Amino acid sequence: MSERNAGIANVLVIDDESSILESLRILLRNEGFTPHVAQGGRQGLEQIASLSPDIVLTDVRMPNVDGIEILSAVRKQDPTTPVILMTAQATLQSAVQAVNEGAFYYIQKPFRNDELVAILRRAAEHRKLRVENQSLKQEIRRRETSMSGRPVGKSRAWTEVLRLAETVAPTESTVLIQGESGTGKEVVARYIHQLSLRAESGSFQSINCGALPESLLESELFGHVKGSFTGAVKDKQGLFTAAGGGTFFLDEIGETTPATQVKLLRVLQHREVIPVGATEPIPIDTRLLAATNRDLEEAMRRATFRQDLYYRLNVIALHLPPLRERQDDIPLLVDTFLQRLEQTRGGGAKVLSEAASDAIRAYQWPGNVRELENALERAWIMTSGARIEVSALPERVTSPTPVRLLDERAAPNPTLESIERAYILWVLNAEGGNKTRAAEALGIDPSTLHRKLSRFGAEG
Ligand SMILES: Nc1ncnc2c1ncn2[C@@H]1O[C@H](COP(=O)(O)OP(=O)(O)OP(=O)(O)O)[C@@H](O)[C@H]1O
Ligand SMILES: [Mg+2]
Repeated sequence: MSERNAGIANVLVIDDESSILESLRILLRNEGFTPHVAQGGRQGLEQIASLSPDIVLTDVRMPNVDGIEILSAVRKQDPTTPVILMTAQATLQSAVQAVNEGAFYYIQKPFRNDELVAILRRAAEHRKLRVENQSLKQEIRRRETSMSGRPVGKSRAWTEVLRLAETVAPTESTVLIQGESGTGKEVVARYIHQLSLRAESGSFQSINCGALPESLLESELFGHVKGSFTGAVKDKQGLFTAAGGGTFFLDEIGETTPATQVKLLRVLQHREVIPVGATEPIPIDTRLLAATNRDLEEAMRRATFRQDLYYRLNVIALHLPPLRERQDDIPLLVDTFLQRLEQTRGGGAKVLSEAASDAIRAYQWPGNVRELENALERAWIMTSGARIEVSALPERVTSPTPVRLLDERAAPNPTLESIERAYILWVLNAEGGNKTRAAEALGIDPSTLHRKLSRFGAEG
């Protein structure tokens, strides 16, 4: 154990006596640790949550919240954090018990300084190894996933989405993924699961909330007990329970009825489900991801979606931009899909003719990535040679109807800015992505166009 390692360790010291805190603070600082002190267990709990210390050193006997409760709070938050208990003769028994329950060590008062420092150094080393081990595992998962399942794209908007997905993946946060149909909501949800620790401990389960009538949906989600309704011939486990240890993806959450929404809110608040026909709740250990292609804020205004549920789901919001706003992703997506088709359909490689490529770039893709994927599959089937001609593409792609200036989903009273944005993107698209020509057509300076595009996040 080197001094360097101890030096980075944040140690939270919890005791109800301020004189002890003060002397430990001085000792730890002199030994190269970074000490933080909390007077009493209550303050201790707060600091554990806000600091995420590397090591916790706590007195056992304190009024209100004692060292044993501190131990269980730390283990809940981060089981890799070593907890060292300082105990007097009177509480020796419970300290020994605590070590059996996962405390790193106990030290009996009065202790010598060098004795405590030696234990802290071991704890720091232990912590370091466990953290390294965890991030190594995560790195391995990241690499494996990036080969197979990393959602394709390199536009600025898409890279931003992936970066956020990668940041939230290892946490337990609920994530709400919003985006038009075919933008890759499920792809991103699976990616989050694959990058999380839950990929090791459980599976990815999903359900399309819009596909089932209310009663059937509830029985799928929460399970049911035998005899609770006609056809319930035996107990059935719900998907929340089936995804135990893993991730549960609620797709098209905007399609749920108010009654189901109340039940989902309960699940999120209490982390338990009550199967249909049962009285006792069952605790669940499932991370929730949800997706919708509806504007939930609008649905809340119309009172078809519960506000409280929205806020519980929307802890982290991921907005997937439509494909027409990240045209830089199109060539990469095309390559990916053509490669996949080559593998699944055989018959050698095929490439797009220049005209076909241009048509694909100019089209608006209202059905987003899914529409692009389908169009390529169709073209592949229609092409016997190695070059996909423009004639193999669906007609709507090659002879587009005049583009709507505004998205039909747009708010009934669009803001001036949203109209400006839509118009600029439309002109840019009409000019085949050429910014100089687009600026000319708009009658603005190219640098002004540049600035506006980067404000919209549409700059590739
Ligand atoms: N970034 C991407 N990289 C690779 N494939 C993608 C990407 N985005 C979408 N796809 C593909 O496009 C199709 C649609 O994606 P997905 O099902 O995730 O969209 P969605 O937003 O859930 O759509 P819907 O709202 O219609 O359910 C899938 O076949 C998926 O494999
Ligand atoms: Mg989907």
